[in-house]
Amino acid sequence: MSAGTGGLPGTAVGQGVVAATPGGQGAGAVMPAGQGRAAGTSGAGETLVAVQDLVKYYPIYGGLLRRKIGDVKAVDGVGFDIRRGEVYGLVGESGCGKSTLGKTLIRLLEPTSGRATIGGEDIFAKKGNDLRRLRRRMQIIFQDPVGSLNPRMPISDIIGEGLIAQADSENRWGDRKVRDKRVEDYLEAVGLRRDYTRRYPHEFSGGQRQRIGIARALVLEPEFVVCDEPVSALDVSIQSQILNLLLDLRRAFGLTYLFIAHNLSVVQYLSDRVGVMYLGKLVEEANVAELYVRPRHPYTVALLSAVPEPDPRIRKKRLVLKGDVPSPAAPPPGCRFHTRCWLRERLGNPASCETQEPPLRDTGTGHRVACHFADQVSDSLVAEVVGRRVPSPAAGVAASSATADALSGPG
Ligand SMILES: Nc1ncnc2c1ncn2[C@@H]1O[C@H](COP(=O)(O)OP(=O)(O)O)[C@@H](O)[C@H]1O
Ligand code: SF4
Ligand SMILES: [Mg+2]
Repeated sequence: MSAGTGGLPGTAVGQGVVAATPGGQGAGAVMPAGQGRAAGTSGAGETLVAVQDLVKYYPIYGGLLRRKIGDVKAVDGVGFDIRRGEVYGLVGESGCGKSTLGKTLIRLLEPTSGRATIGGEDIFAKKGNDLRRLRRRMQIIFQDPVGSLNPRMPISDIIGEGLIAQADSENRWGDRKVRDKRVEDYLEAVGLRRDYTRRYPHEFSGGQRQRIGIARALVLEPEFVVCDEPVSALDVSIQSQILNLLLDLRRAFGLTYLFIAHNLSVVQYLSDRVGVMYLGKLVEEANVAELYVRPRHPYTVALLSAVPEPDPRIRKKRLVLKGDVPSPAAPPPGCRFHTRCWLRERLGNPASCETQEPPLRDTGTGHRVACHFADQVSDSLVAEVVGRRVPSPAAGVAASSATADALSGPG
């Protein structure tokens, strides 16, 4: 796109269908720089975002003098790579640290320690103008489309705010006309009318508000977008529209997503690879098909057993985990999952579960699992424990209603 003045890759958006036909918005309307590659080439790309040993603690203050008495260990040593063009799904119960991880990664929160890069550039080292430039490359779509939009601002200002912050002489986003044109282009790209710019958030439905949130994130031409439970607050009937819109936009703009959800069906529907989090740690990671067919961590097996099976002829068992999620301020020693682990019980409570933290190990095919006894989790054991082993792909979004939230509340 010729910066600032150009439109979008041609957009024909009705209910979230984006046709990538460069040039559709008149002269100068070409794909944003660096975003014209054929997207949706999942898994084939080079690493875009690399995270190593990321830690984010929230201090806890107490006593009369409000001294620091501990830490909420929200993210406690997480490492993974996201490839350019892929959707990396991050799943886990409410409170396991997903949002903290996403926000820390894009510098909405400062990390406690660790390293992260985007396109080889150190995310956490950037300051001043470099940080401002970096922010443009990484955006977030929030869970709550109501709370995340300022009710006193018209849509033009809500979406245009980021443009003002990133304005320069080249993009001319400081110029109201240039900015408004761009806001209208992005409203259209997310399936809304161009003349909605003067309206206020309360005039829109939940799904429309989330489209506005998406336009606000994309208007800056990011490469990497953290989607933090973008459909969790929406009616089931419109969840799939928004998910499909996100997929269409990824293709049209060549985006890379970190897609956060507490619902495995939603993650299955649009992810290429999936990471499973428990109490601030990544416990399993694999390609989406592999994870759903061959889960190897007992926690993932339990999450999968809670995905509703749409076919009434198939009997599925529901593996109910014992007890509550322990406090991230005092995570259990050894394996953090040991207080609730069905496999540990089955194996006669081996001591190592309580004393040694299991590293996230590659099983040889890029499938990583953090369990001392992952090799004991065979296909037949999963089938025995869960009943039906693999949720059918048709379960997808249709079955992603609140009933799938059995293991967690809204994340
Ligand atoms: N600003 C904060 N201050 C203190 N604790 C927080 C803050 N934000 C989140 N937490 C705690 O950190 C943990 C992880 O939270 P969060 O990242 O929101 O999890 P998720 O997105 O998976 O639900 C939770 O125990 C939560 O209570
Ligand atoms: S290491 Fe032990 S407690 Fe942890 S998941 Fe494996 S079997 Fe369960
Ligand atoms: Mg969250």
